[in-house]
Amino acid sequence: MTSPEPAAAHLSVADFYSLIQQENSRVLLLDVRNDQEFNAWRIESRFTPETLHIPYVIFVEEEEAALDQIPAGREIIAVCARGRASDFVAGILRQNGFAALNLAGGMAAWGSYYVFRPVVQESEYQIYQVDRVARGCLSYVLISQGQAAVVDPLRHVAQYTQFLAGHGAALTLVLDSHAHADHISGGPALARAGGAPYYLHPYDAIHPFDLLPAAVEYQPLQDGQQFTVGHLTIHVLHLPGHTLGQVNFLVTEPRQRSYVFTGDAVFLEGFGRPDLGGRGESWLTLAYESIFNKFKATVPADNWILPGHYASFDEASDGGLYLKKAAELWRDNSWLQFSDRDSFVEYTLAHLADIPPQCVEIKRVNTGLLAVDEHQAGELELGRNLCAVS
Ligand SMILES: [Fe+2]
Repeated sequence: MTSPEPAAAHLSVADFYSLIQQENSRVLLLDVRNDQEFNAWRIESRFTPETLHIPYVIFVEEEEAALDQIPAGREIIAVCARGRASDFVAGILRQNGFAALNLAGGMAAWGSYYVFRPVVQESEYQIYQVDRVARGCLSYVLISQGQAAVVDPLRHVAQYTQFLAGHGAALTLVLDSHAHADHISGGPALARAGGAPYYLHPYDAIHPFDLLPAAVEYQPLQDGQQFTVGHLTIHVLHLPGHTLGQVNFLVTEPRQRSYVFTGDAVFLEGFGRPDLGGRGESWLTLAYESIFNKFKATVPADNWILPGHYASFDEASDGGLYLKKAAELWRDNSWLQFSDRDSFVEYTLAHLADIPPQCVEIKRVNTGLLAVDEHQAGELELGRNLCAVS
């Protein structure tokens, strides 16, 4: 009988994330997945550690050659897809005198790791930005007077239910800014878990390729609608373009400080791709009207912009938050510098990347037209989001 591996041989993904943020970190990440997996997706963050790629098979077939590539004096964290092959490799490294730990759960755990960062913490209300670091996806939790709303919840709904339980808040509202094409929404499942209504704009409750109505239970969002969460008022602003049913949520509190959850309408850099529904040119014209006319006229310059994604870690503030005042957005976002619609449309159409093939399937999942298990969901969500024209 083999004795169980000591707990110290493994590092949780939360401890790993803390470790790589420390200044003077001596961490060397050793990725032992095969070339294809490594090239498709790897660990990146605002503090990406130096990464060495040596496939597991090299440790099995040519152990000495593999060990020769490992520098001395480093704190080595081994990672693979699920944490089993890397556990074996970390064991070999320790037997050969290296300080090595296994990243528990591997890339699967990294992919489902969420960081909750406070945007504002007043006595009357709190807003948190939830960052799924591996994918660059953002969602938001709003809490006031024991009530909670979640905007654009991501797939791992236990992250939200546990957070709300820890903050003594009851879920009263779940809002999706649009039907997502890059990740599986946690909206319907979170609403069911918390006994709260799930809201989506009805134009996004039709699959853009299949033209079939959504099979998820939802309440319709409409332009001008308002919700209340404790001291907070949420106003709905319909901004078609990225999708036909894209909305923004403008949140005001009693002192009239305002926050805008922009979903994929605009990002801190770039804006939401207009082509993921297959009608890039016509939806791009809608996007121009939505962003350059309606959004610009409606959102005051001093409002905080809180997007649904980021494309680069450089977009983060020193504290790790992805946010900006609206005036800064109009000043800094290079895609918002066009003076007329035709040049915006022409330039954007010339710079659209290929449509990621999984988008169609993910929209099927999000409209309830396709059910997937955990493994299939992980496959659909592999890698970073590609939502922005940027
Ligand atoms: Fe999107």
